[in-house]
Amino acid sequence: MSFNTFGHLFRVTTFGESHGPAIGCVVDGCPPRIALSEADIQPYLDRRRPGQSRFTTQRQEPDAVRILSGVFTDAATGQQVTTGTPIALVIDNVDPRGKDYAEIADKYRPGHADYTYDIKYGLRDYRGGGRQSARETAMRVAAGAIARKIVPGMSVRGALIQMGPHRIDRARWDWAEVERNPFFCPDADKAAFFADYLDGVRKGGSSIGAIIEIVAEGVPAGLGAPIYGKLDADLAGALMSINAVKGVEIGAGFAAAELSGEANADEMRMGNDGRPRFLANNAGGILGGISTGQPVVARFGVKPTSSIPTSRRTVDRYGRETEISTTGRHDPRVGIRAVPVGEAMVACVLADHYLRQRGQVGEPPDWPFSPPAR
Ligand SMILES: Cc1cc2nc3c(=O)[nH]c(=O)nc-3n(C[C@H](O)[C@H](O)[C@H](O)COP(=O)(O)O)c2cc1C
Repeated sequence: MSFNTFGHLFRVTTFGESHGPAIGCVVDGCPPRIALSEADIQPYLDRRRPGQSRFTTQRQEPDAVRILSGVFTDAATGQQVTTGTPIALVIDNVDPRGKDYAEIADKYRPGHADYTYDIKYGLRDYRGGGRQSARETAMRVAAGAIARKIVPGMSVRGALIQMGPHRIDRARWDWAEVERNPFFCPDADKAAFFADYLDGVRKGGSSIGAIIEIVAEGVPAGLGAPIYGKLDADLAGALMSINAVKGVEIGAGFAAAELSGEANADEMRMGNDGRPRFLANNAGGILGGISTGQPVVARFGVKPTSSIPTSRRTVDRYGRETEISTTGRHDPRVGIRAVPVGEAMVACVLADHYLRQRGQVGEPPDWPFSPPAR
């Protein structure tokens, strides 16, 4: 398999399978002299870790990350910092259970990637889905923790805003609430509702999809590389690369098609800080593929888990019609653990574009420009 790398100057390569001895990544292009230890990365992995509530997979993986290279303790400060060389990170797989997957060794799960891996490669690692497993996304989260340190003053936060047909009440949005419930949901009332709702879905042997919103604040204006490296295009690609993601929106997204020109265009005024002030953010912080300095807002839709106990019609790899019902340890609602993964992908793309902007343009121009002398 090729294409296990993304990013240009901040470049991430991941490796490993669900049931191999370990998963890992190499982060190349990280600038030197940035303080970095495992303690900077682990909290983000802990948010994504499986087995933390009855609403996610019961696989027990501590996801303890080790930094193998790319750091050095600076004698002057006594602090461990990046050296500018490749940073290799590794996480041991400690709770694989290959026997859970006997059922899918020959049969294709409808909605999963079993058939497509087989038809492409002629074989597949069915233990936990091998490389198609979202176990790989732990390494994206680890890389994202490093990316967050690159853009000064930037914060990237995510929240689950819809589960099945049930949307949060945006008037009740509270970022603190996201860390208090097992759904990363910013609406406390809806989080309470989701607990019962999901218990019902699970008892019915089914699963359900979700929508996640990512908000990046403190993103400098000017990031993005038109025409073929637009910031929104790269964000869409990065989010779409997450397992089970079937749709991405930036800003008003598909709803912009229903708006009039005057309602959609984010009007501008001058702010007290001498920078433009936008009166709305339908653009999601990106115009012409370049960041405006407003929050960058992206949403992505995650499909329901395809590994469900309810029996479904399928075929096996020998061309025989059959049925399959998937038991074993699966994420009944993959949208929940996709929240930290989405944050990480956005952080990686923004770090990459920050370094690209620094490389090509350097210091931003003095704005506002002086009017021409008449
Ligand atoms: C965090 C996360 C956890 C996931 N866990 C499972 C799982 O336990 N069982 C499953 O069938 N799919 C799970 N998925 C989804 C599959 O990995 C994905 O549907 C599959 O690789 C096919 O790819 P596609 O849906 O992008 O086409 C998970 C996805 C994410 C983002």
